[in-house]
Amino acid sequence: MNELDALVDGARAGFAQAATPADLENAKAQYLGKSGRITELMKGLGALSVDEKKSRGAAINQAKQAIEAALTERRQALADAELQAQLKAEALDVSLPGRQRGQGGLHPVSLTLERIEAIFGSMGFEVADGPEIESDWFNFTALNTPEDHPARSMHDTFYVEGGSDKAPNLLRTHTSPMQIRHAVQHVKRHRADLDAGRSMPEIRVIAPGRTYRVDSDATHSPMFHQCEGLWVGENVSFKDLKHVFNDFCRTFFESDDLVLRFRPSFFPFTEPSAEIDIQFQQGPLAGRWLEVAGSGQVHPNVVRNMGLDPERYIGFAFGMGPDRLTMLRYGVNDLRLFFDGDVRFLAQFR
Ligand code: DAH
Repeated sequence: MNELDALVDGARAGFAQAATPADLENAKAQYLGKSGRITELMKGLGALSVDEKKSRGAAINQAKQAIEAALTERRQALADAELQAQLKAEALDVSLPGRQRGQGGLHPVSLTLERIEAIFGSMGFEVADGPEIESDWFNFTALNTPEDHPARSMHDTFYVEGGSDKAPNLLRTHTSPMQIRHAVQHVKRHRADLDAGRSMPEIRVIAPGRTYRVDSDATHSPMFHQCEGLWVGENVSFKDLKHVFNDFCRTFFESDDLVLRFRPSFFPFTEPSAEIDIQFQQGPLAGRWLEVAGSGQVHPNVVRNMGLDPERYIGFAFGMGPDRLTMLRYGVNDLRLFFDGDVRFLAQFR
């Protein structure tokens, strides 16, 4: 092998070893650079005769071209390798399922509350909101349930700071205090008319919200929801309450195949009082009587505490359990599911 062939082989080997474009440029300089081996050989031509120059020059040129060809090939190979690596790194698997953004939704009890508000709203009822920390007066006494009344024992609750030693503030045990709170405001707004012997507009209101009792099992939670209803006017009767509640139940459960029963009961703040039971005629609960609300004609003492004359104004009230209604509507059998915060359960109502 002559000296030039060895040079070309050496260049090829050097280029092959270059792992990066920068390495390759360094290797190239050794042969084709200003003081590279080929350049040096060219410089040596000057000392030769014309004939020798021709043949030697041609041979060096050939070697130079071979080295340049090897360089180009290696450059291309490195560029291809780099492209392949990049493609691999940025690979996009178009067969992967897309990433979805988690979708939120309303809690089933919130859905029920919205539904209750919409239905009663369409029947001309306002929606009122009130405090969950309540005074003894609004929660009990004003509702005809004085300090030693036995009905209080069914409303054991959580007591908080404030109020008096004998009658501390508490977490409200029902939404019924809203009857007094709302009526008092309404009466205040229409005081002048009332004092002048004129009529005031009827009170028609519902008050949904959270309530509290010391109670916990599959059908009772220490925190639960209630929705109070109050209708006060000069010419309101039990048949109006029956009518409104009947309409509400049929709309709420989207069924005309539903029977209502008013079963005599006792509440200190109503007289007479009734539990409202419903019976589905079809479906898994068909034939069973299910209690959905307490109700009654507002007791004269309570009407008086609203600032109204019980000889002139008659009230009807009801208190229902939205948690219960939600369980019936969706076929949920354990109340605790509503408050566990398990997304697998909640996501079903999105
Ligand atoms: N407040 C009662 C309870 O928590 C429910 C109730 C019964 C509300 C009769 C009423 C009513 O407005 O008239 O058990």
